[in-house]
Amino acid sequence: MTLRAKGIYKGFTSGSGFLPVLKGVEMEVGEGEIASVVGASGAGKSTLLHILGTLDRPDQGEVEINGKNVLGYRGKRLAEFRNRELGFIFQFHHLLPEFSAWENVALPQLIAGFPLSVARKRAYELLEEVNLAKHSEQFPNQLSGGEQQRLAVARALANRPKLVLADEPSGNLDKKSSEELHDLIWELNRTYGQVFILVTHDEELAHRAHRVYRLKDGILVEEKG
Ligand SMILES: Nc1ncnc2c1ncn2[C@@H]1O[C@H](COP(=O)(O)OP(=O)(O)OP(=O)(O)O)[C@@H](O)[C@H]1O
Ligand SMILES: [Mg+2]
Repeated sequence: MTLRAKGIYKGFTSGSGFLPVLKGVEMEVGEGEIASVVGASGAGKSTLLHILGTLDRPDQGEVEINGKNVLGYRGKRLAEFRNRELGFIFQFHHLLPEFSAWENVALPQLIAGFPLSVARKRAYELLEEVNLAKHSEQFPNQLSGGEQQRLAVARALANRPKLVLADEPSGNLDKKSSEELHDLIWELNRTYGQVFILVTHDEELAHRAHRVYRLKDGILVEEKG
C-alpha cells in the first residue's frame, strides 16, 4: 500500500467568506509505514484526513492509493473501496449503539459480503486482539471510553484494510489506555504491515512514526522520513 497526495487544495465557504485551509499539500506514505500528522488546532488535519480517506473531496489535487486515482471513484465502487481497503478510527468513534461489541465488528464484514459465521468468528478474534474478549456481548454505552476506542480499532480492522486513517485516536484516553492503544497500532503495523496515517497532538508519539508531517499555513512539511 502506498499513498500519494499531490497539490491538494481545500477551503470552506461560510458566513464570513471563503476560508482556505489546505493550500497545496504534498504527501507520500510508503509500504508498511506509519506516518503522523501534527499541527495546531484548526490547521486542517482532520480536513486532510477526510480527503485522503475519500470522505470529502478536495477543491483541487490528486489522491493516489496504490497508484490508483481514488478521487475518480463514485457510488458503489467508492463505497466498496472504503469498506474493503480503508479503516477509519475517529476521536468520536461513531459506534452503533444498538449493536453489541462483536456485532459492531462484524457489520463491516457483512457489508463486504462475508457470511455471518465468518464475520462472527473474525469479530471474536479481533476483540481478543484488542483485549476486549470479555466484553464482546456489551453495548457501546456499557463500555469505558478506552474500551470504546479499542472497539473502534477492532471495527476499523475488520476487513484487514491496507490503510488505516486515525484522527486523534487516543485524544480522550488516559495515559495508560492511550499507551496501550499506541502499542497496538505499532504491533499491527509490524505484524501485518498495515499502513497508518495518524493525526495527533502528541509530539512524542508523532516522532515514533516512520514519517512525521507538520501541517502549517495550509502546507505539509516533512520533518522526518
Ligand atoms: N465543513 C466545514 N465548514 C466550514 N469550515 C470548516 C469545515 N470543516 C472544517 N472547517 C474549518 O477548517 C479549519 C480546519 O479544520 P480541521 O477540523 O481540519 O482542523 P484540525 O487541524 O483537525 O483541528 P483540531 O486539531 O482542533 O482537530 C478550521 O478553521 C475549521 O473551522
Ligand atoms: Mg481535527
